[in-house]
Amino acid sequence: MSTTIILSFLQLLHGIADVDRITPDTPNAVNKTIISPGKSFALGFFNSSGNLYVGIWYNNIPGPRTVVWITNRDRPLNDPTSVFTLTQSGNLAILDAKGITYWSSNTSDGTEAVLLDTGNLILLGNGSESSRVWQSFDDPTDTLLPGMRLGSNSKTGVVGKLVSWRDDSDPSLGEFSFGVDPGTLFQMVTWKGSDPYWRRHLWNDSLLRVTSDTNGSMDSVLKLIPNDMEAYITFSSNALGRVLGLYLILYERALYVGFLDAKGGAVPVGLDGKLKMMYWEDSIKNWTVNWVRPERPCDLYDRCGPNGICDDSFLAQTCSCLQGFEPQSQKDWEVGTGQGGA
Ligand SMILES: *[C@@H]1O[C@H](CO)[C@@H](O)[C@H](O)[C@H]1NC(C)=O
Ligand SMILES: *[C@@H]1O[C@H](CO)[C@@H](O)[C@H](O)[C@H]1NC(C)=O
Ligand SMILES: *[C@@H]1O[C@H](CO)[C@@H](O)[C@H](O)[C@H]1NC(C)=O
Ligand SMILES: *[C@@H]1O[C@H](CO)[C@@H](O)[C@H](O)[C@H]1NC(C)=O
Ligand SMILES: *[C@@H]1O[C@H](CO)[C@@H](O)[C@H](O)[C@H]1NC(C)=O
Ligand SMILES: *[C@@H]1O[C@H](CO)[C@@H](O)[C@H](O)[C@H]1NC(C)=O
Ligand SMILES: *[C@@H]1O[C@H](CO)[C@@H](O)[C@H](O)[C@H]1NC(C)=O
Repeated sequence: MSTTIILSFLQLLHGIADVDRITPDTPNAVNKTIISPGKSFALGFFNSSGNLYVGIWYNNIPGPRTVVWITNRDRPLNDPTSVFTLTQSGNLAILDAKGITYWSSNTSDGTEAVLLDTGNLILLGNGSESSRVWQSFDDPTDTLLPGMRLGSNSKTGVVGKLVSWRDDSDPSLGEFSFGVDPGTLFQMVTWKGSDPYWRRHLWNDSLLRVTSDTNGSMDSVLKLIPNDMEAYITFSSNALGRVLGLYLILYERALYVGFLDAKGGAVPVGLDGKLKMMYWEDSIKNWTVNWVRPERPCDLYDRCGPNGICDDSFLAQTCSCLQGFEPQSQKDWEVGTGQGGA
């Protein structure tokens, strides 16, 4: 009898205790999640539009799950007996019941995977923090968390990019991406497909500083750091600890903002592919957008074409020609995009 009681007590303890790591003995089956020690982030399976994905999301905030990282975004699975596991051979993998691999860290020397309070899942080689053989921060999805680096190397061509979801419920690769321009290493670019959509030149020390929140005390910095043959983008904030998270997110589709044209008519301008800096505002229990680009039509890359001038001072955000040039595409100009140039 007493043995039974002790056993159930142990089981209870085991059920309640939050586990922050995966070892070869603890496969993470569909209904189990791993929680970081400070309970900031959770890792596990989630179901989106009937498909199963393994991802990391904010653990502490109410409402819909805010997913920041996904393993198998382009290989959804349906088998609820699938596991996210660390194999005996040291590889972190998603396996279904038949043993088919849906995602793999491609490692052979991992002994333990640990979810940190920064949202980083690290795979240790020999148990010490310095023995990382792989980390989720090196394999970004659509969200840049403080501490991550989005890199570009002009020699090796290795590029780390954020890539948007396809739509709100489909995390497969969407059409927008963000990172360092590998050609110049001097600008941050959002691409739509392979075309630049928004860019920020390196100037003023290459940093974008946003100082704001309800009482103007939060300081967030998005920085491009050139470094010989490579460059990387970092994101930091002094708001950590006060808010749960602050991040850049790249998906928002079919969001149309109306601008008034010169005649007072509304011109719908598709502004999807936004890069947003957001923080969790506990008083309103919601994410607050701190900064967003592109914000206005004139922010769009090459909106008025060569020799065109985008008039930012106007609500209309209209294009006009440099003196001596005529519009090339009257139709574009009439709908207010002027992309044909002058
Ligand atoms: C997961 O939980 C649901 C109910 O929440 C249950 O129906 C299902 O059997 C569970 N699956 C596994 C693999 O434990
Ligand atoms: C995912 O959720 C849908 C309902 O939204 C359900 O029909 C489906 O069975 C779930 N898939 C798995 C694998 O749990
Ligand atoms: C593992 O290797 C496969 C095949 O080369 C590749 O598609 C996949 O992206 C790799 N996984 C990671 C996490 O790099
Ligand atoms: C663990 O790996 C790290 C980095 O590879 C190394 O510096 C350290 O000495 C190793 N520790 C042990 C106990 O093997
Ligand atoms: C860069 O921008 C900051 C904040 O906008 C400003 O205080 C600083 O003077 C600028 N530095 C240069 C070199 O323009
Ligand atoms: C800012 O305002 C929030 C409430 O909106 C308050 O909790 C916080 O302490 C304030 N921070 C500072 C630095 O005044
Ligand atoms: C949170 O904010 C978003 C957009 O800013 C809004 O659509 C949503 O309704 C808000 N959610 C709540 C619970 O207020």
